[in-house]
Amino acid sequence: MKRTNYAGLIDETYLEQTVTLTGWVQKRRDFGDLIFVDLRDREGIVQLTFNATNAAALSVAEKVRSEYVLKITGQVVKRAESQLNTKIKSGAIEIDVTEAEILSTAKTPPFYIENDVNANEELKLQYRYLDLRRPEMQRNLRIRSKIMSSAMHFMDTHDFINIETPILAKSTPEGARDYLVPSRVFPGSFYALPQSPQLFKQLLMGAGFDRYFQIARAFRDEDLRGDRQPEFTQMDVETSFMSADEIRELVNEWVKAMMNDVVGFNLDTENIPTLTWQESMDRFGTDKPDLRIPYEIKDLSETVKNSDFGVFANSVKDGGVVKVLAVPGGANHYSRKDIDKLTKYIERFGAKGLAWMKVAEGALTGPIAKFFNTEMQSELIAKSDANDGDLLLFGAGRMDIVSATLDYLRRETAKELDLIDQTNPWAFAWIVDWPLFEYSEDFDRWIAAHHPFTMPNEEDLHYLNEGEDPHKAHAQSYDLVLNGYELGSGSIRIHRMDIQEKMLKALGFTKEKAHEAFGFLLEGMEYGFPPMGGIALGLDRLAMLLAGQENIREVIAFPKNSRATEPMTEAPTRVESKQLNELGLFVPDAE
Ligand code: AMO
Ligand code: AMP
Repeated sequence: MKRTNYAGLIDETYLEQTVTLTGWVQKRRDFGDLIFVDLRDREGIVQLTFNATNAAALSVAEKVRSEYVLKITGQVVKRAESQLNTKIKSGAIEIDVTEAEILSTAKTPPFYIENDVNANEELKLQYRYLDLRRPEMQRNLRIRSKIMSSAMHFMDTHDFINIETPILAKSTPEGARDYLVPSRVFPGSFYALPQSPQLFKQLLMGAGFDRYFQIARAFRDEDLRGDRQPEFTQMDVETSFMSADEIRELVNEWVKAMMNDVVGFNLDTENIPTLTWQESMDRFGTDKPDLRIPYEIKDLSETVKNSDFGVFANSVKDGGVVKVLAVPGGANHYSRKDIDKLTKYIERFGAKGLAWMKVAEGALTGPIAKFFNTEMQSELIAKSDANDGDLLLFGAGRMDIVSATLDYLRRETAKELDLIDQTNPWAFAWIVDWPLFEYSEDFDRWIAAHHPFTMPNEEDLHYLNEGEDPHKAHAQSYDLVLNGYELGSGSIRIHRMDIQEKMLKALGFTKEKAHEAFGFLLEGMEYGFPPMGGIALGLDRLAMLLAGQENIREVIAFPKNSRATEPMTEAPTRVESKQLNELGLFVPDAE
């Protein structure tokens, strides 16, 4: 090893020692025969001093520029009083350099290598190796690494067996578009990159492994958002012979160990709330509620259905709902202009407007207050859980639009008014009792709410029978939510072929199509499959939250941008026609 220590770890305990350090030049300040250089490595920064006593070293220091790679030897000495820096570990000392060598020179980087760097994201992704030199990114990736080793340790000590599953696989329907890989041997045939190891882990239960774990890559060609990447990592679990309650208990233990290992937080798993999906939708308008926000959505349909305000009365008459969010202290904060802005924003959810009122001295004010008599106003305020000074924001119309709107407004106003409860930094919640199916506007048909292998509730199995309405069935599935993000999702699986066939039928598969797509699974179920269930936690999302970031790109070494391309390598790229020919593919030239 060329160095004796990491630069960023040197502190007063090393005083008088001679050390050899390597790293990057963060900054150089030149005072002629005295030069200061900040040397950076993965552990932090240390200040070097070069002076005329060591002329050779000083002449090296004269040549160095930002991001040069340096190797130095010198003595650890106390800093002058005026030079003390309490912000960094090495802030009380500096290195009096006796020998210096430039190991590598560097061009001027396209942006400063420092936290809060003010550079365009695309540029940072193009020079990702430079962006990753920033202390914040170094820290983020180490948090990610810690999560993985913590998970590995937990699974290992709880008798889980780590098993890898194929990447070149057959399409599994998790609801997104597949990434396809053409076969050279069978032109016209394609592998699909797995959207998750779902079917393989079920087959592993069929094979008797009983407890499976994998840190697995998953691939989904879907619209990207801050918490979505086209390839991401799941911490994937499957078990045999466990109930949903037992699996959640196990996950609680796992998450507790993780929070302790990674951020030193003692999670009180006894008090993680469990909400039914319906309750979550009613109270928060979403299936991934942020429970740090101390106000909820209230249903006012009954109160206002006979009011003189046409928008409300008609919404209820047409089978819709009227719901409200009482934003604490919002009356003074939000001007008409602010509300207009919110109104414009919520159009994307299909909302036709944003009715609002303010509460003052126990009564309502605002342009629509006149439509509500005194009695109705009192009832409305009481049912909204509102106080003087609150801003009431209303959603009227179709339930799903109202939910999406008020969910957004709840999160947005909490952020704006700083109402997120910071005393509860890690608000986990379990969401259970999901509908088995959901209607997809995109596909214009019913799809599996979780995936097609999810076991319906025991008492709902009959809904899958001929002549009954399968869409009434609820499922033995559960989501783990953290601070308003869906962290993980799992379920008890169908392990019997008769139920699986009915489920696929309800999803519109003919028997032939079902066997074409999942014949191997259905056939397997005829050879004695155990009852089973599992879950997958999103590693990227967990790392993002534990690192205090707002985008999963910040915790992925080489992520894709919002157009699913990778600006550094420029993937995806066009390929030689020879390669296409071998694959039996013809791509009309775009030009
Ligand atoms: P699901 O599809 O809910 O379940 O995925 C599990 C978890 O993975 C994370 N996740 C993502 N993270 C980043 N980018 C994405 N595009 C993305 N999509 C999902 C989320 C999510 O909760 N096979 C089932 C699990 C099971 O039933 O055991 C599955 O894949 O945190
Ligand atoms: P209008 O009757 O269209 O002038 O609307 C009166 C008020 O009700 C305005 O503040 C609108 O923004 C609001 N509004 C209209 N439609 C809805 C709706 N579906 N949900 C909530 N507010 C609405």
